[in-house]
Amino acid sequence: MAKIKSVIVASESTPFIKTGGLADVVGALPKYLEGLDVDAVVILPKYRDIDFTNYNLECVLPSMCVVMGFGEEWASVFKTTTEEGVTFYFVEHHRFFSREGLYHDNNLNDYQDNAYRFGFFCRAALQLCKDLKLKPNIIHANDWQTAAIPAYMKIWHWDDEIGRAASILTIHNTNYQGTYNAEVYNYLGLGASNYSSDTFEDNGNVNLLKGGIFFADVVTTVSPTYAKEILTPYGGHGLSPYLANKTTNFFGIVNGIDDVIWNPEHDEYIPENYSIKSMKGKATCKRELQKEFLLEEDDSIPIIGIVSRFVDQKGFGLITSVIDKVVVNMRVQLVVLGTGDTYLEGFFGNMPNFFAGQVGSYIGYSNRLSHLIEAGSDLFLMPSLFEPCGLNQMYSKAYGTLPIVHATGGLEDTVLNFDEATNKGTGFKFYTPTESALYNTIGWALSVYYDKPKVFQSLQKSAMTCDHSWLISAKEYVKAYKLAIKNKKSYDKMCD
Ligand code: ADP
Ligand code: GLC
Repeated sequence: MAKIKSVIVASESTPFIKTGGLADVVGALPKYLEGLDVDAVVILPKYRDIDFTNYNLECVLPSMCVVMGFGEEWASVFKTTTEEGVTFYFVEHHRFFSREGLYHDNNLNDYQDNAYRFGFFCRAALQLCKDLKLKPNIIHANDWQTAAIPAYMKIWHWDDEIGRAASILTIHNTNYQGTYNAEVYNYLGLGASNYSSDTFEDNGNVNLLKGGIFFADVVTTVSPTYAKEILTPYGGHGLSPYLANKTTNFFGIVNGIDDVIWNPEHDEYIPENYSIKSMKGKATCKRELQKEFLLEEDDSIPIIGIVSRFVDQKGFGLITSVIDKVVVNMRVQLVVLGTGDTYLEGFFGNMPNFFAGQVGSYIGYSNRLSHLIEAGSDLFLMPSLFEPCGLNQMYSKAYGTLPIVHATGGLEDTVLNFDEATNKGTGFKFYTPTESALYNTIGWALSVYYDKPKVFQSLQKSAMTCDHSWLISAKEYVKAYKLAIKNKKSYDKMCD
């Protein structure tokens, strides 16, 4: 059978630009699809903050005309191929993308024209496929920023080869739906008949994710448990009935981890590499972490690490309520890396002043520190209220750093709770997101660290041997691609 040609369209991707896990997923998936007879390319916006110094960018379309609901926009398209052989295209449009950040300014104010920016990007990505004759079989959209793509394919491209391709929409977080003032709708040019309560209309606003769910041939999300959760009214943030309408064309595929980047054996950011066979390097990483964050340099004190966007989703309400009590009552050190909410930046930024030598923090974004924390910590804290998949708990496991998690979404699917009876497990879970559950679970994890060191080590080994390779998940995406292609054929027959 001929190779499937997939075009993945997203608003961020490693190694170019990243605010969260979406970038990790988009950067990794195409590399693993390649080995499964899928040719995958990626299309991204050309943001001002992307550092292209190490990439040979080639301009492949100096002036591409993109027709929107009222009038034309003009863009340029650039291309580069990474060392690993994945081709990335970048849509340049100065008014929309040559500004700071991705979705908001430095003060976290959402850009008011986001629906215009990303609506345009969706149309531009399809025009790019057409003008460069990419001839995809499948176009893979991700999150609200690119959710209008399945709609444009069916509404605007019904009589060309872009419209013959199938579409898949992966939802990485239902908390962000791209809901904007309805005045953008004419600019988007999606047709008055599609501004209905089944499609793009949502309480008088435009909801891009909701419209995308309706038009996509297959909808996926990033873990099976999250797929179940968002079919419930509470978990779905209003989308559950529309997801339920997709029946068997909606399901969860758990993310994998890029084991070239997140691997203690080869990690370039850590002071000494290590593996399950020789854990000596982990002790060096711990000492380095203590040095870097001005903590008491003592191997016997366990370190809990946190690397996160500072948003409510991640359970910071719980953490801030119990963390002082934890560091006062327990013999433990805490290292925090994160950025986002101003209150939380102040809270964690100040903690080292109150708990000098015991708590360290870095408020900002640092790839190097995120690797050092994964490697040097003993435990990793992720008590998210909801978590579509979560990558850090899987990175921690790969580094022998046991995650403490609230059993939700992907955290439920990827962490096996420690069982005192069998001594099996890969982390510590609590099932109700309350302060006492969090406090007690941290206490439980520390008691295993102190009182049962051999058991703790065997849990570390179990965590390190779990296979979270992208290859397994990429195979599921190939199945999803094939299902979308089949669904599209049935849809085309119905329209004939
Ligand atoms: P989410 O996408 O919801 O933020 P994930 O766990 O899926 O959560 O992915 C988060 C990704 O972002 C991980 O790769 C993590 O290491 C990274 N990350 C988050 N905050 C920071 C930070 N302040 N500095 C460096 N990396 C960060
Ligand atoms: C979102 C989710 C996170 C997931 C990531 C990648 O940011 O919050 O749970 O891991 O997307 O799919």
